[in-house]
Amino acid sequence: MQKTLFTKHLSTLERRWESALEFAGYDACVITAGQARNYFLDDQAAVFRANPHFAQWLPTDEASASVLLVQPGVKPKLFFYQPADYWHQPPQVPHWADEFDVEVHAAEDGLLSALHQSLLQLTANRIALIGEGGLANFPAAEINPVLLLNHLHYHRAYKTEFEVEAMRSASSKAIAGHLAAAAAFEAGGGEFAINLAYLAAAQHTAAELPYSSIVALNEHAGVLHYQHYDRQPPAEIHSFLIDAGARVHGYASDITRTYAKDENGVFASLVARLDAAQRTLIETIRPGVNYLELHISMHRGIGQILAADGIVTCSAEAAFDAGITEYFMPHGLGHLLGLQTHDVGGQLKGVEGGHNPPPARYAALRFTREVAEDMVFTIEPGLYFIPQLLDGLRTSQSAADINWPLLESLIPCGGIRIEDNVRVTGAGVENFTRDAFTAARND
Ligand code: GLY
Ligand code: MN
Ligand code: MN
Repeated sequence: MQKTLFTKHLSTLERRWESALEFAGYDACVITAGQARNYFLDDQAAVFRANPHFAQWLPTDEASASVLLVQPGVKPKLFFYQPADYWHQPPQVPHWADEFDVEVHAAEDGLLSALHQSLLQLTANRIALIGEGGLANFPAAEINPVLLLNHLHYHRAYKTEFEVEAMRSASSKAIAGHLAAAAAFEAGGGEFAINLAYLAAAQHTAAELPYSSIVALNEHAGVLHYQHYDRQPPAEIHSFLIDAGARVHGYASDITRTYAKDENGVFASLVARLDAAQRTLIETIRPGVNYLELHISMHRGIGQILAADGIVTCSAEAAFDAGITEYFMPHGLGHLLGLQTHDVGGQLKGVEGGHNPPPARYAALRFTREVAEDMVFTIEPGLYFIPQLLDGLRTSQSAADINWPLLESLIPCGGIRIEDNVRVTGAGVENFTRDAFTAARND
């Protein structure tokens, strides 16, 4: 099944690359996977992630120094680097490469001269190279031409069935971790213990994750990309936010849930309201909707939540109009998702490029395109109590519209984010995340 989907995926890539190369004026493209790199003055390498353009053709992390040659109408040619190394397990040619013309090389120099020879034999002479440095002096190749990249990045937003299936599985894998993390939180675990529970259940090493998991207790939930794992739980526990994903064939899930310790308090009420608002917003998604409009609806929804729980004393609309909601929700509603957690192309106007930035008021929004079938993106509203931002609210004209004692009592809870991964269908969305939670709970 996976193999059939992959074959169809390759056919789609062949078509896309043919039109992208023609559009940008190239006959062939060299795609370098990139190089594993050591830390400065060290013999230890940082985690290697292949160039996503390479990974879309060949889904593997074990591709350091390998190169792919793509030419319309010709089988893609893979120059696979497999050093004779007894210090490490040498990379194996992945089974996905069955559909390529493959040459295995034990030496990088040999690999590059074979590639060079192949290029000299091409009747084509307009060659692009996509990838990082290293091969920058490669003869006659234009490095990372913007026209070509824009075309490819624009289309990366539309996932093939193979990609959709990988991302569905990446949600399921992460949900196993999320359930274990929630149980570890219930059992009184600290950030470090909860993180280990997540990794074990998601069957991931930390290095394999799409991004470093955010495992945040109490006020740490208000640090948007909180990066530590406290070894001990705090003396008093109020809240837990976990933003953690998984990868399948290189494709990411990116999922957040928030839990209140006191199920009857205002924070629990806010979590339930944000969860309901997120579901309602997702129900409005269909092809043709503009993502910026969804982002704005989400801010109106935050205004309603703030009013319903009495954090603002003005109306929900007044809170939205005065920009009060922006002090509580400083990031974008979401982003494209795929080989990269923040997948490329979210603000592109079209295949030819052009930049469609969000309005200054919502500068952090990464995704401003019209929603279309087979796009996969996140919907991740948040509501935070971030002291640095609240200081600004306190000195703003809206300060009189805030119930400060209530708001200050919530600062130790940090904040809330609910993040799902959805794929647009003809009529609405498939919610990978909610579906995976339901399936896991019914198991
Ligand atoms: N985990 C990063 C994000 O949600 O965008
Ligand atoms: Mn996230
Ligand atoms: Mn996200």
